[in-house]
Order: sequence, then structure tokens, then C-alpha cells
Amino acid sequence: MANLLSQEAIEKALSTRWLGRRVYYYPVVGSTNDILKELATRGEPAGTLLLADFQWKGRGRLGRRWQAPPGTALLFSLLFQPGWPGHKVSWLSMVGGLAIVEAIFQLTTLKAYLKWPNDIVLKREGRWHKVGGILLDGEFSDGELQNAILGIGINVNMSREELPDVSMPVTSLLIESGKSISRLELLRLLLQQLEIYYESAVAGVSPHLAWESLLITRGQAVQVSDPKSGLTIAGIAEGTDEWGRLLVRDDKGKVHPISAGDVTLRS
Ligand code: BTN
Repeated sequence: MANLLSQEAIEKALSTRWLGRRVYYYPVVGSTNDILKELATRGEPAGTLLLADFQWKGRGRLGRRWQAPPGTALLFSLLFQPGWPGHKVSWLSMVGGLAIVEAIFQLTTLKAYLKWPNDIVLKREGRWHKVGGILLDGEFSDGELQNAILGIGINVNMSREELPDVSMPVTSLLIESGKSISRLELLRLLLQQLEIYYESAVAGVSPHLAWESLLITRGQAVQVSDPKSGLTIAGIAEGTDEWGRLLVRDDKGKVHPISAGDVTLRS
């Protein structure tokens, strides 16, 4: 039987000042992002945390599904109301990625990296394996980001048999560390880091350089496809701009700033 969480246990575990101090816990939901988006329209405050032990309609980027057996993953969403202009929304994913990498390291000493734009990856036997992902849903009013829902999914205690069957190699913290990991402690560390990174971004400190330094995609030969438009661009990922767009130089020397898509590293 999976080890399920509870609202009391979450409230007791957290060590943040304001982030996650209002908690909604559900054993089962469709998608934590969808429910929190709904709650946000009814006036929930910034910092609200919604966590579930199982999602039957968990969403990934680009319309994909996000699956994990009950009680094996950390699945949650956070509400932010930064009032930033639209182009700055990527800073939220950046601070999320930085906090996840830091929390994983503090708890397990595993060194995670980021695959553009929002995958959390670990290297094993020369191959990158996805251990988590971020899904950012934003609501704008007059060009300003009002309610932003930062959804985070991390494969924590999934055995090999429990990993989803997806196109990219995937893994869990249990598989990589050989130890069962406390999801509550991971949540505590992650929110603690995120509160710090977010406050610093609000104070005007760009998370871009720290985030870019963790990107495995940087300097690589890549192929980026946008499943929505069907367009594919091949070239060298020279870096990212302040707003997280991937800068890919094609073989004619033209640099394409890419906001969304799927990256394949070409060898
Ligand atoms: C991706 O890598 O494609 C993003 C995955 C994001 C998954 C999380 S799990 C919690 C939150 N609720 C969702 O429906 N999705 C995000």
C-alpha cells in the first residue's frame, strides 16, 4: 500500500514563511494545475499549494499526459501572482527548475540538470533520464501575468516497473539513489528554495544565468520540433536569452529564438 500524505502532515512539514502556507491536499484529482486554476479565480491568495497523491488527468507540456501510480511521485501546483509582463513569465519556470535541482541535491546528493525548457534530468550510463517536469499555466489581464500556476511533477519512489512508458528515458529518485525518499522532506526543501529564488526574482534579480548554467542543451547540436506548428529547426543551441528562449543557429548562420518545442540532442 502506497504511503499517502495528508493536509496536516504537509502543513507540519513546511518551513517556508508564506509559500505553501495555505494547503489543499487531495488523495485523487484530475490535474492539480486545473483545480488550482479554478480555485485562483475564486480568490485564493498567492502562495497557495495544491498537492495530490494521484492524478487521473495529469497534464504534461505540449498536450501530453503525466502519469504516476498513487503515492509514488510529488505532484503539486503553486499559485503565484507576480503581476509581471507576459514576456517575464518564463522566470517562474526558471526559479522552479533551480529550486528542484537544489532540493534534489540537498536530499540525495544526486546532481540533476535541466533539459530545455522544463525537464529535470539525471545522467546514468551516459544517457539523460527524465525525473521530473514543470508545467506553467498563466492567466493574463491587460498583458500582465495575474494568476500563474506552477505545476511540478517529480518521480520520487517509482520502481522500474512503475515508470511510464514514454518516448524519452525516464527514472525516479528511488532508482537513482537506491533509497526510498521522503516526499515531504523533498517538498519542504523545494519550497524553501523556491521561496528564496522567487523573492529574489521579484526584487529584480534575473534567474536566467543560474538557470542557463544547468541546461544540458547549451552548446549542443539539436533538433527542435514544435508539435503544434509541425516546424523543425536543426542547428547549434548557442544559449538562451533573458526570457528563456532557446537560441538555435542553423547551418546558414541564422539564429532562431524558440519559445516552445521539443528538443532532441543530435550526436
Ligand atoms: C512535463 O514535463 O511535460 C511537465 C509535467 C508537469 C506535471 C505536473 S504534475 C503536477 C501538475 N499537474 C499537472 O497536471 N501537471 C503538473
